[in-house]
Amino acid sequence: MIKETRVILKNAGTINPESIDDYIAAGGYEALRKALSMPPGSVIDELMEAGLRGRGGAGFSTGMKQQFTSQGCLDCPQRYVVVNADEGEPGTFKDRIIMEEDPHSYLEGTIIAAHAIQATKGYIYIRGEYYNSIQKTEKAIQDAYEKGFLGKNILGSEFDFDVEIKLGAGSYLCGEELTMLESLEGKRGNPRIKPPFPAEKGLFGMPTLVNNVETLANVPVIISKGKDWYRQYGTERSPGTKIFSISGQINKPGNYELELGVTLRQLIEDMAGGMKDGKPFKAALLGGAAGTFVDSSMLDERMTYDNLREKDATLGSGAVIVLAEGDSIYDILQNCLRFFRHESCGKCVPCRVGTSLLVRKGVELLNGHSEKMLILQEMEKEAELMAKTSLCPLGQSPILPLKSATRYFAEEL
Ligand SMILES: Cc1cc2nc3c(=O)[nH]c(=O)nc-3n(C[C@H](O)[C@H](O)[C@H](O)COP(=O)(O)O)c2cc1C
Ligand code: SF4
Repeated sequence: MIKETRVILKNAGTINPESIDDYIAAGGYEALRKALSMPPGSVIDELMEAGLRGRGGAGFSTGMKQQFTSQGCLDCPQRYVVVNADEGEPGTFKDRIIMEEDPHSYLEGTIIAAHAIQATKGYIYIRGEYYNSIQKTEKAIQDAYEKGFLGKNILGSEFDFDVEIKLGAGSYLCGEELTMLESLEGKRGNPRIKPPFPAEKGLFGMPTLVNNVETLANVPVIISKGKDWYRQYGTERSPGTKIFSISGQINKPGNYELELGVTLRQLIEDMAGGMKDGKPFKAALLGGAAGTFVDSSMLDERMTYDNLREKDATLGSGAVIVLAEGDSIYDILQNCLRFFRHESCGKCVPCRVGTSLLVRKGVELLNGHSEKMLILQEMEKEAELMAKTSLCPLGQSPILPLKSATRYFAEEL
């Protein structure tokens, strides 16, 4: 029987999230003090050697991203940190608990990251309907200024850093880092073409570090306790813990912080109280709409970035939506396809037309009279074409739920 390992959520439920004194009494802002006594490059090395990987979905090395950003455009007068608190992936609700229960943890991580890349300005992009997250973060920022953790000459050092909140307006695409930068610049939420990456040319053309809330909440822990301590959790290539947001046909939906490498069976049985009404497990959608379906053959696979990728599955943002026998794979898949159609920004033809076509073919799959296997094959072909020709990752995503649903549940579909 596994237990929760609370590294990031250690203060959640035990301190008053609106009290900076509570956070300080629990050891808060000691990591910032330590980081400011270290050269920026050493902070980056520590994070790199700890093996921290981005928790926003892609799992890219956080230290490496910081290194690229600190070395990008050395002549530029400004560097930025942008905190991705948009949390738009369906089934994902884990950044919210950090922002509501322990906002200083990720704020401290943001200030340390800014020191590491020598940024002087940061933006926290929070989805507009996350009212509590916004309010708790606002209070945390205000208190951090009063205590000298933000502003000029932080803790008596040479380092200056200001941060402010910007609100998203509910566009899924604005969670994508380059689209978020457009939105922050006051433009319509259309993606930019990569390269250049934000590390070279990001917000207002300046080198920019974009990190997810959970990623940044890991930073103070690593700096204060060190890479070796951190690496006792998780696996060699996916160290640390991850907050899993589990929902669907289980008894105790919610957020659970577990070591990376936990299995889906352990998550469902030991944490989420087992299947609802004792129904048999049928499938899980891992990583949200831009994720993959798995069936019971994957229940004992270790959930790490690499192991799941090797099995053509995704860890993504840590969303796990559980389905029981009797639930319709078709309904969930069609929901995902409708979601992509709705969120497509329409800038490029393959995605604008392709997302509509997939929904239409999905309806045919249910009601049509022609050969259904053929329709499924056409849908896969279309989604593959979209993956190859769309401008941004949104158009490249429908293939993931579609192909995995077909792989495990072709007969049902
Ligand atoms: C369509 C789309 C939506 C995304 N939405 C989010 C989001 O809501 N939150 C997030 O942290 N990352 C999101 N991402 C991933 C970001 O583009 C980016 O990889 C992430 O913010 C990097 O931070 P990390 O390295 O700390 O994970 C999204 C990506 C795509 C393609
Ligand atoms: S892939 Fe879709 S969301 Fe991305 S630019 Fe093209 S139309 Fe817009």
